[in-house]
Amino acid sequence: MKKIFITGCTGYIGSHTCVELLNAGKKIVGLDNFSNSKREVLDKIKQITGKNITFYEGDMLDKTLLEKIFTENEIEMVIDFAAYKSVGDSVSKPIEYYVNNVSSVLSLLQVMKEHNVKTFIFSSSATVYGNPEMIPITENCKIGGTTNPYGTSKLYVEGILKDLYQSDHSWNICIFRYFNPVGAHQSGLIGEEPNGIPANLMPFIAKVANKELECLNVFGNDYDTKDGTGVRDYIHIIDLAKAHVCGVEKLNKEKHGLYIYNLGTGAGYSVLEMVEAFQKVNNIKVPYKIVGRRAGDIGVCYADSSLAEKELNWKAELGIEDMCRDAYNYINKK
Ligand code: NAD
Ligand code: UFG
Repeated sequence: MKKIFITGCTGYIGSHTCVELLNAGKKIVGLDNFSNSKREVLDKIKQITGKNITFYEGDMLDKTLLEKIFTENEIEMVIDFAAYKSVGDSVSKPIEYYVNNVSSVLSLLQVMKEHNVKTFIFSSSATVYGNPEMIPITENCKIGGTTNPYGTSKLYVEGILKDLYQSDHSWNICIFRYFNPVGAHQSGLIGEEPNGIPANLMPFIAKVANKELECLNVFGNDYDTKDGTGVRDYIHIIDLAKAHVCGVEKLNKEKHGLYIYNLGTGAGYSVLEMVEAFQKVNNIKVPYKIVGRRAGDIGVCYADSSLAEKELNWKAELGIEDMCRDAYNYINKK
């Protein structure tokens, strides 16, 4: 049986996707350099699924290693999660971000082409919409106007993939634009583990609840939203991982094309609604204070995900309570 090659397989989204693909009976070969994940995640994936993946430790920029992986394994498609993802970091380290997020994809695509593997799923982001021209955001909304090198790196790769497909219609490419993935596997064995102080809302809330951090700073309450705080489309990581199983099935069926899907729930929740839900579900206090807006933030961002529902036969099923419960369960179990 041919394998699916997953880069960044021990990261947050990669690890949950490995679990869902293994549960769906797929074979996986994975790559990670552990720049933002831990080796023990491999054991956790095994513990959850009872199945092994073929694993290579190394860097996606290492073409010799990529050649070796493609020579030693029969690969049918690639799902690319390996990238740096901190918006703030990207502003101070643009070269590192463009090399790791753009050059590495070029190396990967070159090796794929050499080995005639032309089926590819890419992890993009709602950030490519910049300040969205309308809400809910559809895939046809204008992209661009990104405000940091991380977002721009996703925009560039999307452009590269469009040029590639234009040049050779035998490629079979799916671009997923994730909204705000949160939560963890119900087992509490894998989840989101940011280094240092979390930049994102849900891991920050979980650490405040766990008394590892004192207080949540709510970035602004003067947006044009129901309570003035920022509104986002939070999606449970398991729903997001399952979308990749549907993406694999879609590409297996279509044989060639370039497909772009928003992956969100279609519902927007404010920061204060998230805090309230977290407190209620977990019966715990989350102290917070309102501070000024965070630079580069937008007020409202949520998806119209009806295209994914129609074409992938996928729909997010888990709600805000599941997200809050599973995020806290993970941090508690560590
Ligand atoms: P993550 O940091 O948890 O996972 C990325 C993994 O890739 C890590 O395990 C890291 O060690 C590895 N990696 C990074 N550079 C590598 C390289 N050069 N060679 C080998 N391994 C490398 O991030 P995540 O949240 O799982 O995100 C996965 C993908 O989804 C990324 O491309 C990210 O930009 C994208 N994305 C994430 C979010 C989000 O909110 N989590 C939102 C939109 C898009
Ligand atoms: N927020 C706070 N306090 C915090 C952290 C966040 O009030 O300590 C607020 C933000 O201002 C925003 C909301 O919570 O209104 C969500 O913020 P996140 O940082 O969790 O998420 P973003 O929507 O800003 O960005 C995330 C990823 C990006 C990705 C984007 C769209 O960090 O990489 O979703 O997919 F591009």
